[in-house]
Amino acid sequence: MSSIYGDQYGRLEETMEKLLAAIDGIRDEMSAETGMDPVEHTLGRIKSEESMREKCRRQGLPETEESALAVLHDAIGVRIVCAFLDDVYEIRDRLAALPALEIVEEKDYIRHAKPNGYRSLHLIVRVDGRYPAEIQLRTISMDTWAALEHHLKYKKDIGGNLDLITGELKRCADELASTDASMQTIRDMIRTM
Ligand code: GTP
Ligand code: MG
Repeated sequence: MSSIYGDQYGRLEETMEKLLAAIDGIRDEMSAETGMDPVEHTLGRIKSEESMREKCRRQGLPETEESALAVLHDAIGVRIVCAFLDDVYEIRDRLAALPALEIVEEKDYIRHAKPNGYRSLHLIVRVDGRYPAEIQLRTISMDTWAALEHHLKYKKDIGGNLDLITGELKRCADELASTDASMQTIRDMIRTM
């Protein structure tokens, strides 16, 4: 079977590398300005052939290059994990200012958390007027929570404890959000001393 990405896989990889390089540039700029690297880590991935096909089927789309690269927008995925909340939005603004990058959609699951407690700022961008990509910006706390919650989704044997676990996870998400806000306040206090 031929690739759902047609002959574009190499271009997708290049685009992802370009995006990661742009993020590194913003990171260097901000480090120079403040003396502190705002980014804990970044991660880039091209959605695997298998999960792209699965997503097309799930959404009732034909398994074509058009679906993978034009209709769906997360063939390229980049995650930016920051120590502090403010840096998430500062990086967002700096990304928006890049000429090669256009924000086509923004989902702020930080200001409006999902009902399960999931928090992150999602940007759907277009790079060089061409390839779409999904950028997820979040704090370390949000990232830790998402990793645990993701792990849980694939645990089949939770059974009767599911409601309890879901509730506890939600509580943790909210506690982490409150801690993020406090950590931000502490940093602001240190910076103005
Ligand atoms: P898909 O979820 O990818 O089908 O796309 P969507 O259009 O519903 O976008 P959404 O913004 O809901 O989610 C996109 C991505 O964000 C997902 O693929 C996950 O990586 C992440 N995400 C969204 N919701 C959750 C969540 O509840 N838990 C975790 N762990 N990750 C989530
Ligand atoms: Mg979803």
